[in-house]
Amino acid sequence: MSESWKEKLYEPSDELIAVENVNYEGPEPIVEGEGTPEEELITIDHVDLSYDGNTGPIKALEDINFNIFPGEFICVLGPSGCGKSTLLKILAGFIAPTTGTVKLEGEEIEGTDWHRGVVFQHPPLYNWYSVRKNVGFGPKVRGLPKEEYEPLVDEYLEKVGLSEFAEKKIYELSGGMQQRVSIARALINNPEILLMDEPFGALDALTRESVQDLTRKIWWETGKTIFFITHDVEEALLLASRIIVLSRHPGRVIEDIHVDFSRQIVEENATDIKFTEEFYKYREQLLRLINSQ
Ligand SMILES: Nc1ncnc2c1ncn2[C@@H]1O[C@H](COP(=O)(O)OP(=O)(O)OP(=O)(O)O)[C@@H](O)[C@H]1O
Ligand SMILES: [Mg+2]
Repeated sequence: MSESWKEKLYEPSDELIAVENVNYEGPEPIVEGEGTPEEELITIDHVDLSYDGNTGPIKALEDINFNIFPGEFICVLGPSGCGKSTLLKILAGFIAPTTGTVKLEGEEIEGTDWHRGVVFQHPPLYNWYSVRKNVGFGPKVRGLPKEEYEPLVDEYLEKVGLSEFAEKKIYELSGGMQQRVSIARALINNPEILLMDEPFGALDALTRESVQDLTRKIWWETGKTIFFITHDVEEALLLASRIIVLSRHPGRVIEDIHVDFSRQIVEENATDIKFTEEFYKYREQLLRLINSQ
């Protein structure tokens, strides 16, 4: 991928939504790039999703309407039960929208696909297999010859800092290390987008910080598009290039802004950014917005 995606992340546009009573200060936060339909990686067009409930349909998502561009790191925030996981499941192809369409590079998403890698809070790994076998599992079942995927396994284990644990069994690893395996397992398939559903929610603060750093680094170095769900406003601000906030159930998009902290951390080594006034302001405003739901 060319480096131009990084510049595009921070080009101003008036396409994104900004909630009227949230007056962000600091750098121009509303950025979409001058995206044209041909450049959209994912197009979410007027999506509603209703589940069949015991007493009738339960509407989980209402009129979701936004596009994802290559190289974006999107964090989705919103109150519990607002439909974040539902949205991710639609992007993964686990469920189809009730109305509206979701397209990947112009093609409607129909079912799951290796092109969309998913990382969950509790990674469904094969506990009795080694780290190496878990990471190589995808390419193996897709029929890639061993001599082709083994070097890839080594490459991705190195990327996530697990080379020396390659022969360990999953049950011998810490939660943070298991999440690294899960990330490597998704990345080895070279997905067009990495879908992550509260992947670090169950980790302690220190471990969480280290896998956040790893994820940001992988994003920046590979240019992968990431769609990341979190409850944690600070986590979203530290990782995202763009933050989308959903309303209380049924989820609607009530905020869509671009933020620059993650880039500053990687490019300018701004490790203390979360102690700045600007970061504090964004955090407070997003918290206020979510809590007002
Ligand atoms: N399989 C299902 N059948 C019926 N209702 C469901 C199903 N899955 C989710 N729901 C309902 O849809 C709504 C959205 O659920 P979803 O899991 O997407 O929310 P969420 O934002 O991910 O919540 P959390 O932050 O707690 O993970 C909730 O009201 C939930 O009860
Ligand atoms: Mg969820």
